[in-house]
Amino acid sequence: MATSVKQWMDKETGMINSSIFADEQIYQQELEKIFGRAWLFIGHVSLIPNPNDFFLTYMGEDPVILTRDAKGELHAFLNMCRHRGNRIVRADDGNAKNFMCAYHGWTYSNDGRLVSVPGLQEAYYGELDVDNLGLVPVAHLETYAGFVFATWAEDAPSLKDYMGDVRYYLDIRYNSTDNGSQLQGPVKWMAPFNWKVPVENASHDMYHVGVSHLSASIVQARFRNQPLRNRGEERFSTPGQRQVHAGNGHSLTANVREEGTFRRVLQGATNDGRAEAYEKSMLDEAIRRLGHYRATRISGGGSLFPNKWLGPNLAFPRGPLKTEMWVFNMTDVDMPQDLKDDIRLRQLTSASHPAGLLLQDDMDNWRSVTDSGRTPMTRRWGQRLSMGIGHEESVPGYPGLEVAAACSEAGQRGYIARWEEFMNAESWADIHIDPITAPFEGTATM
Ligand code: FES
Ligand SMILES: [Fe+2]
Repeated sequence: MATSVKQWMDKETGMINSSIFADEQIYQQELEKIFGRAWLFIGHVSLIPNPNDFFLTYMGEDPVILTRDAKGELHAFLNMCRHRGNRIVRADDGNAKNFMCAYHGWTYSNDGRLVSVPGLQEAYYGELDVDNLGLVPVAHLETYAGFVFATWAEDAPSLKDYMGDVRYYLDIRYNSTDNGSQLQGPVKWMAPFNWKVPVENASHDMYHVGVSHLSASIVQARFRNQPLRNRGEERFSTPGQRQVHAGNGHSLTANVREEGTFRRVLQGATNDGRAEAYEKSMLDEAIRRLGHYRATRISGGGSLFPNKWLGPNLAFPRGPLKTEMWVFNMTDVDMPQDLKDDIRLRQLTSASHPAGLLLQDDMDNWRSVTDSGRTPMTRRWGQRLSMGIGHEESVPGYPGLEVAAACSEAGQRGYIARWEEFMNAESWADIHIDPITAPFEGTATM
């Protein structure tokens, strides 16, 4: 059991202590208690498609190499030489059977074995325990729909249990085709805010859209030839749109369409009929994999605890006041090339791209929200995630722990509550797992 329980969020009022966004000690604990034990999204099989491919990634601040060995097996290791701790891989990605440390030349195979040590006989007198000095592997590695996840915690639950009901919604975009998706990128940049703020925003703050993004939305709607949504008072009466805390800290906004109206999932594509034609051509496959309801009626997006925000994007901690942001471009393997090209170009204007119109609004707000945890008087008054407390309900067709109106902070409360639970836990034995309740239909699996 956890020895002392700290409270950073008052669950009755939704008030949160702003120091969770700025305090150095809290930050150092997060690296161990959140990133040292949660299941973390670290890459995608399409980023390392061939034998001996590798991709440099992170689990929190810890550098990690994701590899595919000569036999095609996936591995993830700490990017750290067992001699003096040097980083052995410096390239973002590539293809290599072995990795040689640039300091003294210890060399590791891409399945983690230490295969060569200069002076093993002459200088170490044959006494080095070579068999036990391979690269440090993660405790568990699993994939979901081609996305690779890993955890450092031996006692972690399965990825399936960790995800729980959120997979019901994620399947709609990530798991509806037999051939899956492919990722490009990422685009990376450093941003001056706490890593939790973008994830909490994606958990999923619809309240800000009609205010923060109004001018950008007008431009974007014209540019994409799409109707303007979620502006002004319309935000508060959006039939079919609801915020869902799916459990285990994962939250999203779900859109349910009327039966018989076409559900367009690919919001990022130009509205010229190509995306719609593609989605219609894939509909039978989607129905087989997801069942009729999910394949034809629902769409949505949000976050995955602890650090996946919006699409397949990541927020890496780099100090309490700094975040390394990654965004990937994602398309289906089966899409025609011209649609893939269109989505890649349109992504430049999307909600999650640094060159897009929307994220510039967000990042300025996120920096300022972070800063309120930095100075004594702003810290004294705290922050408010009270919207819709007590109005969460169970709504047929929207599986999850708490289902709320589209404009609510139930999802964000679910995210912060999960964070608090992890921070107070000594091990996974202290962390609860919400049961899977969603009515999964179709043939899609993990
Ligand atoms: S630090 Fe890697 S070989 Fe010495
Ligand atoms: Fe936003």
